[in-house]
Amino acid sequence: MLETKGAETKNNRGGLKLTTTRESQLLTQVGPGTAMGNLMRQYWIPAAKSSEFLADGDPVRLLLLGEKLIAFRDSSGHVGVMDHRCPHRCASLFFGRNEKDGLRCVYHGWKFDAEGNCVDMPNLHSHQDFKEKVKAKAYKAKERNGLVWVFMGDQQKVPPLPQLEPALLDEGEARLFFAMRECNWLQALEGDIDTSHFSFLHGGSLKIDQVPEDNPGKYQLLDRAPNYHVTDMEWGTMYGAFRPTEDPNQHYWRVAQFLFPFWTMPPDGDFDHHIVARAWVPMDDTHTMVVHLSWKKNIQGVRVDRNGDPLPGIIMGMEYLPNSTDWYGRWRLAANASNDYMIDREAQRNDEIFTGITGLHLQDQAVTESMGPITDHEWEHLAPSDRMITRTRRNLVKAARALAEEHKLPPGVENPDLFLAARSGDFLAPRDVDWMDAYWERMRASANPTGHLKAAE
Ligand code: FES
Ligand SMILES: [Fe+2]
Repeated sequence: MLETKGAETKNNRGGLKLTTTRESQLLTQVGPGTAMGNLMRQYWIPAAKSSEFLADGDPVRLLLLGEKLIAFRDSSGHVGVMDHRCPHRCASLFFGRNEKDGLRCVYHGWKFDAEGNCVDMPNLHSHQDFKEKVKAKAYKAKERNGLVWVFMGDQQKVPPLPQLEPALLDEGEARLFFAMRECNWLQALEGDIDTSHFSFLHGGSLKIDQVPEDNPGKYQLLDRAPNYHVTDMEWGTMYGAFRPTEDPNQHYWRVAQFLFPFWTMPPDGDFDHHIVARAWVPMDDTHTMVVHLSWKKNIQGVRVDRNGDPLPGIIMGMEYLPNSTDWYGRWRLAANASNDYMIDREAQRNDEIFTGITGLHLQDQAVTESMGPITDHEWEHLAPSDRMITRTRRNLVKAARALAEEHKLPPGVENPDLFLAARSGDFLAPRDVDWMDAYWERMRASANPTGHLKAAE
């Protein structure tokens, strides 16, 4: 069991301040030239659904790591991603004409292919033409199973796509959703590695007799202050929270992961089939796109009551506003800060829904956005229940500094297969078995449930 140690100082209200102002800035700033931005630019980023781009269709504004980009699908089906500014005189290529294998700037007609090569300069005479010397700032893009991935790092050193279990599922087998969140990526991600909130934010009003007896998720309602272990893994950070069961020889475990640079695997479902990951992709420092990927055959956690009806407040689905062409116009939810997430105060008061907000994702969205655009870490009073969060912050800081100071590549860039050994979920295990042994035993016992994977080590 690893404890949080290190640069712990008191903040001005007496609580433990585990994240210094410098670390806070390092963690939350992702634009070009920042340490965290550089770390994230070492990895492929899930940026959009393939279905957002039609061949010769409208160019799409795409905001990634603080960079304003334009994405389009050319006549041959390739997705191009480039800076939105035309390299001639910086008119936005959003207004460009997507025609015959390239995007033509509407200002003077210069045309660029999906790789960013300038292929036409029609406002110049042929002896003045210098198109072979001009390149739009373009990023490599790849498609896999319904997702468009973008690599924004050194375009001469492009790594392989990450090998995460749910990202390898065929398109029809995966549940895939995007949702924009109006806050910094870190606080959004931290909601997913914060084990003790389930019993309050999501399940604070649930009574044990509402939950089917054979659903092990019920143990979260019996013990709302779980003990847990945190440890560093090759791919990031892992926790295992444990609770007692009726059987004095068994513990109920919930294991979850953080994976570099911005992935989580939440624990809410049966470990053996729980193929799920979420990317918390920074659009800029104050907006995040959640990319959720999971296997449709997952056995999910606590969702329905003993009659099979949905539990109050617990739904996964979301209603969206129609996408617009704005930089912040993709995958916005209809319930949002402007309408207080459609909070039902009566349901909150009569203890039907703890938050009064309906929807698991929306409950997380409301609390993480309510922290402000970027959490002021000075205000925090971190507790032992936050050890997964402090350790993950520390690992991110360490990796970003190692990259900046020693040019050390972060985990999984060169060896993306290591992500395949990570999974999350719940299971029962004998009390006298070490939790890491129990984890690897479950991985072995349930290796490759989808048929797409290599067996875990
Ligand atoms: S600004 Fe694009 S062609 Fe002139
Ligand atoms: Fe949550």
